[in-house]
Amino acid sequence: MNINDLYDRNYVPYSNEASVALVQSKQGSWFAGTRIENISYPLTISAVQNALFCCLSEAHQPDVLFTDHPDESTLQCWEKELNISIELLKKADPPTQHVGNLGLDEDLHIKKTLHDLLDQAVVEESNFPVSALVETDRGFYSGVNVECQSWSLGLCAERIAIAKAFSYGASAITGLHLHTREGEFSSPCGACRQVIIEHLPNCQVHLHHADGSESVHFSNDLLPHSFQSSSLSKHKTT
Ligand code: THU
Repeated sequence: MNINDLYDRNYVPYSNEASVALVQSKQGSWFAGTRIENISYPLTISAVQNALFCCLSEAHQPDVLFTDHPDESTLQCWEKELNISIELLKKADPPTQHVGNLGLDEDLHIKKTLHDLLDQAVVEESNFPVSALVETDRGFYSGVNVECQSWSLGLCAERIAIAKAFSYGASAITGLHLHTREGEFSSPCGACRQVIIEHLPNCQVHLHHADGSESVHFSNDLLPHSFQSSSLSKHKTT
C-alpha cells in the first residue's frame, strides 16, 4: 500500500481535509488510521484516534505514533494517556508498506467471533466489554470498546469497527452486529446510532444479546429524526 491509497480511505465530506496516521505497536505491528467525519461534527474520529484505536482494539500496545498533523492539540493527551512517542509522518518515505490487513474471513462464525472478541475489549474503567462486526464490500471488520482513563477519549465498539473498516479499504458498510456479555438487551448508544445512520442507512443491525437471543432492526428505526441538515454538504470523497 502507498500513502496515496491511505489518503483515499478518508471520509471527509464536510471538511475535505484528509489526514492519515500510522501506529507502530510495542509488539512490532503497524496500524493505519484515516479521518472519519460525521454530520454531527463532534462525533468525528481523527486519523490519530483511529490508528491508535485500531491498534488497541487488536490487543496491541501503541508505541510510536506517526501523524501528518503534528500541531494537533490532542496529541499531548494521547502522549500522556498512552505513554507513546510521536513523530512526523513524512510523505516522501512513509512506512505504509508495513501496514497489514485487518479484514476477517468471509465465512467466519458471527456469534463465536463476537463472543471471542469480548476478551480484546479494553475496559479497565467499566469492566463492560462490547464487541462489534461490520459487513462491508471487503468482508468483515471487528471492533471492541476501548476505554481511556479520561473517559471522553474512549470509543464504543461499533464506532471502532466502522472507522477501522474504512481505514482498511472498505468503501461500503452493509450490516452491523453488536454483542455484550452482560445487560438485558445489547443496544447501541445514541452517539453510535448517529454514526450508524451515516454509514449504514436502511441497513440491518443485528443485536446479539447476552442470553444468546438476537434481534434485528433497521438502522433508521433505531434513530428516528436523526440529525441531518442539507446545509451541511455531503459528497463521499472515497
Ligand atoms: N459501549 C459500547 O461499546 N457501545 C455502545 O453502544 C454502548 C456503550 C461501551 C462504551 C464503554 O466502554 C462501556 O460500553 C460503558 O459505557
